[in-house]
Amino acid sequence: MLIDTHAHVNFSAYKNDADKVISRSLENNVWIINVGSQYSTSKRAVEIAEKYSRGVYAAIGVHPIHLSNGIFKTKIDKEEIEFETREEEFDYEKYKELARSKKVVAVGEIGFDYWYKPKTKTKLDEFKNRQRETFVKQLKLAEDLNLPVIFHCRVAHDDLTDILESQNEKPRGVIHCFSGNWDEAQRYLANGLSLGFNGIIFKLNLDEVIAKTPLERILIETDCPYLTPPPMEGRNEPSYVKYVAEKIAKIKKLSYEEISDITVKNAVKLFNLHG
Ligand code: NI
Repeated sequence: MLIDTHAHVNFSAYKNDADKVISRSLENNVWIINVGSQYSTSKRAVEIAEKYSRGVYAAIGVHPIHLSNGIFKTKIDKEEIEFETREEEFDYEKYKELARSKKVVAVGEIGFDYWYKPKTKTKLDEFKNRQRETFVKQLKLAEDLNLPVIFHCRVAHDDLTDILESQNEKPRGVIHCFSGNWDEAQRYLANGLSLGFNGIIFKLNLDEVIAKTPLERILIETDCPYLTPPPMEGRNEPSYVKYVAEKIAKIKKLSYEEISDITVKNAVKLFNLHG
């Protein structure tokens, strides 16, 4: 058994076959946490999870990229796609209402993304402030609901860790799609967080970070539909998480079974998953 701790079967890439993709995953003994990136996808993650008696869960939150208007580029496997975002305001009460579902196991994905940023100083300050304010409100939601957090962070590790270290109540959680260096990894580990690895480990060299990260702090994920691990091609899906597990087993010089056991235990414990 495996747990894909970060999937997006709630996204439009699966609008025609989400149920099939999920059934395939459950038949392969892969449980799924579908992660929201704005209100609509958070709601959809909850609706999907509610359809299954076990093995499918949801995380809710506003991803920093949805705090600005813009056209963004992303890749699904080799294909570059463009998508448009509209500025969204985080509404605490609406999210709290969504979290009444027992299938909601985390707040996320939330955090910082400075990859596409405004060029003028004033606009840049505004952009960063908006990400910070929204992030802090969502941390509060996680604290009030006693839920762990799924963090997204791109080229903003210092800003994220500074805030985490200034919190009285330290959030539990995972830095999803970790792709930094060992120094950055250590800072997150020192704050009690886990690191989530996905298909990006086939593109960037994260061998040292994976080798040094304690086993009990490792989670595996796909971030599907993105980051398809070889040898698969095209749209990624939760059942492909096994390729990530295989590669981590190799780096850790452990068996596939040992890695699947420990990563399942880690996910069950962090997200308090039950039946
Ligand atoms: Ni994601």
